[in-house]
Amino acid sequence: MAEPYLLPSEPIDSLDAYLATDFGGLGVKAAQELGPAATIEMLTASGLRGRGGGGFPTGRKWASIAGGGEGRRFVVVNAAEGEPGTFKDRALMRANPYQLVEGVIIAAFAVDAEAAYICLKASFEREREAVTRAVQEMQSAGICSDCTINIVAGPDEYLYGEEKAMLEVIEGNPPLPRWFAPYEQGLFATGPQAGWQATQPSAEGRGAGASNPTLVNNAETIATVPQILARGVDWFRSMGTEASPGHVIATVIGDVVAPDVGEIEMGTPLRAVIDAVGSGLPDGRSVKAVFSGVANAVVTADHLDTPVTYEGFQAIGSGMGSVGFIVYDDTTCMVDTAYRFSRFLSVESCGQCPPCKLGSGEITVHLENIERGIGTEADLQGIMRWLNRVTDGARCYLASEERIVVASILNAFTEEFAEHIELRRCPRPRQLPVPKLVDLADGVATYDETFWRKRPDWTYDPE
Ligand SMILES: Cc1cc2nc3c(=O)[nH]c(=O)nc-3n(C[C@H](O)[C@H](O)[C@H](O)COP(=O)(O)O)c2cc1C
Repeated sequence: MAEPYLLPSEPIDSLDAYLATDFGGLGVKAAQELGPAATIEMLTASGLRGRGGGGFPTGRKWASIAGGGEGRRFVVVNAAEGEPGTFKDRALMRANPYQLVEGVIIAAFAVDAEAAYICLKASFEREREAVTRAVQEMQSAGICSDCTINIVAGPDEYLYGEEKAMLEVIEGNPPLPRWFAPYEQGLFATGPQAGWQATQPSAEGRGAGASNPTLVNNAETIATVPQILARGVDWFRSMGTEASPGHVIATVIGDVVAPDVGEIEMGTPLRAVIDAVGSGLPDGRSVKAVFSGVANAVVTADHLDTPVTYEGFQAIGSGMGSVGFIVYDDTTCMVDTAYRFSRFLSVESCGQCPPCKLGSGEITVHLENIERGIGTEADLQGIMRWLNRVTDGARCYLASEERIVVASILNAFTEEFAEHIELRRCPRPRQLPVPKLVDLADGVATYDETFWRKRPDWTYDPE
C-alpha cells in the first residue's frame, strides 16, 4: 500500500505542522506558477474524479465553471456528509483541515471565484472548529489573504448534501433542491423565478440574468487537489487504475469487528478493504451483503473480489458511491434492510416532487408489512408499481436511489420476500441499525438514534 496522502497517522493541528510536511503549501504555489488554465489542465490530465458519490471528472467540472455563463463565480465545498455508512469527510477534516483549505484556495484561484463556502452540518462541531482554525491561520499567514472563505453550518437533513439544495441553504433557505445545476444557476443568480415553478422550466428559462456558475465539489475531492498540483500527474496516476487513479478514504461499518475509516488505493478488492479497514468479520460469520451507501445496488457475497474502482462497481451493476461500505453478515434479514433504507429515503425526501415522497412512503409501508409478517402478494405488487413511477418528474437523484436500492434487494433476495409472506413472520429477526453515523472512533460506530423519531415532514416525535 502506497503512503497515505489524505489521512496522516496523527492529526495535523497547526499550520506550522502542516507546512512542515513534505508537500504542505506546495500545491497552492504550483497553481500560482501555472496560472488558472494550466492548473485546470493538470487536474484534467490527472484523471481525478469526484469523491462525493457520482465520480464526475473534476478537471472537466472546473473547466465548465471557469468558462461558463455570465456573472460572478463561487466555490462550494460539500462537507455535509449525510450518506449513511460514510464518515470519510469528517475523518479528513479532523485529521487534515489545512490540506482541505489549501484545496479551496486553489479552486477559487483556478475558477476565479469571488468567494468560497465550506458547507458542513451545525452538528459537526469538532470539524467546524478544525476547519475554522485552519482558515484563520492560513489567512493570517497570508496564504489566502485576498480570498473570502465562509463556513456554513447547515441543517441535519440528508438533502442538505444535494448540491442544488446546498446552494439554497447558503442563500438562507431550507434544503430544497432547485431545478438547475449549480453551473447553470449558481449562488445568488439573478432571474429569481427560474427554478421555482412547479414544473420543469423551459430551455428559455435558463440563463435569464446572470447565472453565476458555481463549483460544487466534495471535501475529499478538494483535499486531493493540492497533492496533485504539488506532486504531479504521473505520481497521481501511479496509483489506482487508468479510469480510477489515486486513493480514496473508505468507511467500513456494520457487522465487522472494528468499524473504521482508512485510506486505500483504488483497485483494492472489496474483501481486502473490509478486512483492512473494518478488521473483517468475527469468527464464524460471513458476508451476506454490502451496500455502498444507500444510493447503489446491493453487492452480494459472490462479488467480494470486485476492485474498489468506479469501473469495477459499474461492472457488477452497482456503484462505488462515496466508498462508505455497510457490511451485513449471514444473520441479516434483507427485507428488513430494504425497509430501513426505504424508510430513511422516504423520510428524507423533501416532498417537492410528489411521486418521490408518496411513492417512497408507499414502498416503505409495503416493506414494513412484509417484514412484520402481515404482507401479501399485493404488497409486492404495490412495491413494483411504485418503483416504476417513483422517479417521475424528480428534480434530484434521491428518488433514483430509492428505486435502485429497493429493486436491487428485491432482485437479489426474492426468495426472502416470498418466505416472509409464506411464513407470515420474519425468519431472521434482529435489531439492525439505520447506519447514519454521528461518530466513528476507536472501532465504535455511533448511529443516529433520532432517526426513528423523525417524521416525514422533518419534525420529530417527542422522546
Ligand atoms: C440526496 C443526495 C445527497 C447527497 N449528499 C452528499 C453529501 O453529503 N456529500 C457530498 O459530497 N455529496 C453529496 N451528494 C452529491 C452532490 O449532489 C454532488 O454531486 C457532489 O457534492 C459533487 O462533488 P464531486 O464532484 O466532488 O463528487 C448528494 C446527492 C444527493 C442526490
